[in-house]
Amino acid sequence: MSKRKTDVVSTSIEDINLTNKKIIEIKNNNEQFFMINGKRKTFNILTYGCQMNEHDSEKISGILNSIGYEETEDEKNADLVIFNTCLIRENAELKVFGKLGEIKGLKRSKPDMLVAICGCMMQKPEIREKILKSFSFVDIIFGTNTIHELPDLIYNVDFNNHRSIGIIDNTELIYENMPKTRKYNYKALVNITYGCNNFCSYCVVPYVRGREKSREPQDIINEVTKLAEDGCKEITLLGQNVNSYGNSLENKFTFANLLLELNKIDGIERIRFMTSHPKDLTDDLIRVIKECDKICNHIHLPIQSGSNNILDKMNRKYTKEHYLNIVSKIKSEIPDASITTDIIVGFPGETEEDFKETVDIVKKVEYDSAFTYLYSIREGTKAALMEDQIPDETKHKRFNELLDVLYPITYEKNRLCIGKTYSILVESVSKSSENFLTGRTEHFKLVHFKGSEDLIGQIVNVKITNVKTFHMEGVLEQ
Ligand code: 5AD
Ligand code: SF4
Repeated sequence: MSKRKTDVVSTSIEDINLTNKKIIEIKNNNEQFFMINGKRKTFNILTYGCQMNEHDSEKISGILNSIGYEETEDEKNADLVIFNTCLIRENAELKVFGKLGEIKGLKRSKPDMLVAICGCMMQKPEIREKILKSFSFVDIIFGTNTIHELPDLIYNVDFNNHRSIGIIDNTELIYENMPKTRKYNYKALVNITYGCNNFCSYCVVPYVRGREKSREPQDIINEVTKLAEDGCKEITLLGQNVNSYGNSLENKFTFANLLLELNKIDGIERIRFMTSHPKDLTDDLIRVIKECDKICNHIHLPIQSGSNNILDKMNRKYTKEHYLNIVSKIKSEIPDASITTDIIVGFPGETEEDFKETVDIVKKVEYDSAFTYLYSIREGTKAALMEDQIPDETKHKRFNELLDVLYPITYEKNRLCIGKTYSILVESVSKSSENFLTGRTEHFKLVHFKGSEDLIGQIVNVKITNVKTFHMEGVLEQ
């Protein structure tokens, strides 16, 4: 094992149990509840935001399951409701406050129900203060670095009858072995780095998730090996900037090295990763994606803006020429690759000319799809202090103009798939029709096709017959 600056702490329930009598008391208490009521105490997690949060919710579920709670789909039946919150844009924050209002009513009719809030919003002191002052019905507050403290926090409320708060602002520690109840058995999210060092001027993540830390390669390899043994076919490696994986490790080990190792694991058939930062995407990585059969030919490469002036103000540390150069390398080395992106419209100081450059880059790259966002002021970031904020009306106008260019390109990219056969990992029954299944190609394109439910979790071949902007339709090939 390499020497490292970041210390690893084991947080498996067995490890916590050794030092923590409170967990044993909670477990006993929950067992008693089960004996008396014939059912277990239940929890419901409302997850907002990105895949990082989705995965944190799987850890929260894992911890709660291991101390005797059971998950319920409906918050109205839950003994414990947990908000796992997001702070990336204002509307994410507003959604949480709206839902908290609803839960306040529920708590009035069910005073024994516990309410907990965690996630990125709780890492911001001002928001914690607001919750403490104005939402007195909230029993537990914890953050992104203190998920493992949840049993302690529940104990405080259950046994000492007082509000519990567990927050660590920034930590050098990595918590390994946390129990996880994964949502799916055929695909899994796997953290490779935590935090972010990039400080893009619009973004709140480095302030709430702390400095970047990489997990030990062997810890990641062990987790993925175990997932494969349990039948998992697809993994998605998570990091704010996966390309800088390994920077905090004392022994040099790059993201490309990690992918090479994970590609060797029997049973894993697809490897995805999110998110790549254009400043750190190396030729070596493109070569590894090309050479490794399991790595999906899909690269999510956020551009944010097509104007060098705005990219500089965003502190993105690359130019549009550098970005286009990477894209042309990807296209020539991996002609089959799909490229997707994130774009922010209406960043402070964005002129009509700057915006046209963003539209221009969308046309040049011909993205398979893109997440488009209106710039949202985030208190505490550099961009929030910039004077030339763009009026909402202009932001919306540009946003719509961008979609008018983007959607026909996305549709055209899908249209080129008609008549071709793709392997699809079947994910679920389609939401729109019971007879249809839904899955994704390695390029991350959504495909609906007729088939029976027992194909869920399998990889099948589907021939594309028809396409729309946001999904494709096809027929199963035997
Ligand atoms: N306003 C709008 N979009 C933002 N993003 C991050 N911060 C903001 C903000 N303040 C977008 C970026 C990032 C994605 C996850 O969210 O495009 O890539
Ligand atoms: Fe935010 Fe930039 Fe870090 Fe992504 S790379 S999390 S956009 S600061």
